[in-house]
Amino acid sequence: MTPVKKNIVFSLMVILISFLLGCSHKTLTVFFDGVPPEYDSLRMVAKQNGKKTDSIVLQELAAVAAATKHSSHPPFANKKCGLCHDQGRKGKLTEPMPGLCFQCHDVFEFKFGHGPAASGSCTACHNPHTAENPKLLLRTSQELCYYCHEPSRVTVTPAHEKLGTTACTTCHNPHGGNNKYFLTEKE
Ligand code: HEC
Ligand code: HEC
Ligand code: HEC
Ligand code: HEC
Ligand code: HEC
Repeated sequence: MTPVKKNIVFSLMVILISFLLGCSHKTLTVFFDGVPPEYDSLRMVAKQNGKKTDSIVLQELAAVAAATKHSSHPPFANKKCGLCHDQGRKGKLTEPMPGLCFQCHDVFEFKFGHGPAASGSCTACHNPHTAENPKLLLRTSQELCYYCHEPSRVTVTPAHEKLGTTACTTCHNPHGGNNKYFLTEKE
């Protein structure tokens, strides 16, 4: 090999090796950020007592998240990936949806459950990690609902005559409710 060719081969190898190192470093840190054992055992104790995750820990997590921009989910912001992702199973969820969410949030108990919320498709509206909008929402206002509901079919209902740009959640609870069509008190 000429010195020039040698140099090229060498540079290519350096690029390849740094690429491989970069990747493996990324995969290693993604799921091995580790959950402090004391946190896990707190959760176990809380579960054994039939309670949600220890409320003090949750408050601590919430305080940190409140200090961050946009909406950021406290367990994500605090890199507690292991609470939701199984490190030993390539990051698979530790519990299927929506049970995963109900480990820490009050279980939805409504007479009338709203389709996607009732079927556990929380991530149709919420990002589990972080979002540009409040409440980890993927979309806001009417857009959130028109993602699935056909606008022309909604506006045709007499109750929606003066809809304008009013957010749908002014009158409807997005998760469900005990009134038909999950109408809130305000309506
Ligand atoms: C509150 C639970 C929760 C926490 C904490 C959490 N995740 Fe997730 N993550 C999810 C859920 C749920 C999905 C699946 C989203 C979907 O596809 O509907 C997901 C998906 C992912 C994916 C697949 C790609 C994507 O974005 O959809 C990656 C990668 C990921 N999470 C990494 C992480 C890392 C890294 C952390 C910690 C910094 C973390 N997650 C913390 C719940 C969580
Ligand atoms: C390990 C505990 C934990 C799990 C699991 C968890 N959350 Fe949370 N979540 C929190 C805490 C702590 C807060 C902040 C305090 C609060 O609002 O209760 C929060 C807040 C939220 C908020 C309000 C965010 C804001 O900006 O006000 C939404 C929405 C939410 N979670 C959705 C979900 C969804 C969807 C899942 C399932 C994918 C989930 N959570 C799973 C702990 C958890
Ligand atoms: C159709 C869209 C939609 C679906 C599906 C949905 N949510 Fe929500 N969720 C919302 C909206 C909108 C809000 C904000 C309500 C508000 O600000 O009054 C919200 C708020 C929340 C909050 C914060 C409550 C508060 O008062 O701060 C939590 C926690 C939450 N959702 C959890 C869940 C979980 C768990 C699921 C799945 C079982 C789910 N959501 C499914 C639209 C949805
Ligand atoms: C991810 C898709 C999806 C999103 C987003 C969504 N919906 Fe729904 N919605 C459904 C499904 C599925 C049903 C059940 C279909 C049915 O029963 O006709 C439903 C049913 C409803 C119903 C009851 C209709 C009936 O005839 O009983 C109302 C009211 C409703 N949605 C309002 C909303 C509002 C308000 C929003 C925004 C906060 C929203 N939806 C966002 C999928 C969605
Ligand atoms: C001013 C209050 C109000 C707002 C805002 C509102 N709704 Fe409604 N909605 C109602 C009432 C009241 C009913 C019940 C109508 C009936 O009893 O026939 C209803 C019924 C519905 C139904 C079931 C009946 C049907 O027509 O299919 C759907 C779906 C629905 N709304 C979706 C939405 C969506 C999506 C938005 C936002 C774009 C929205 N609503 C905004 C008051 C409201």
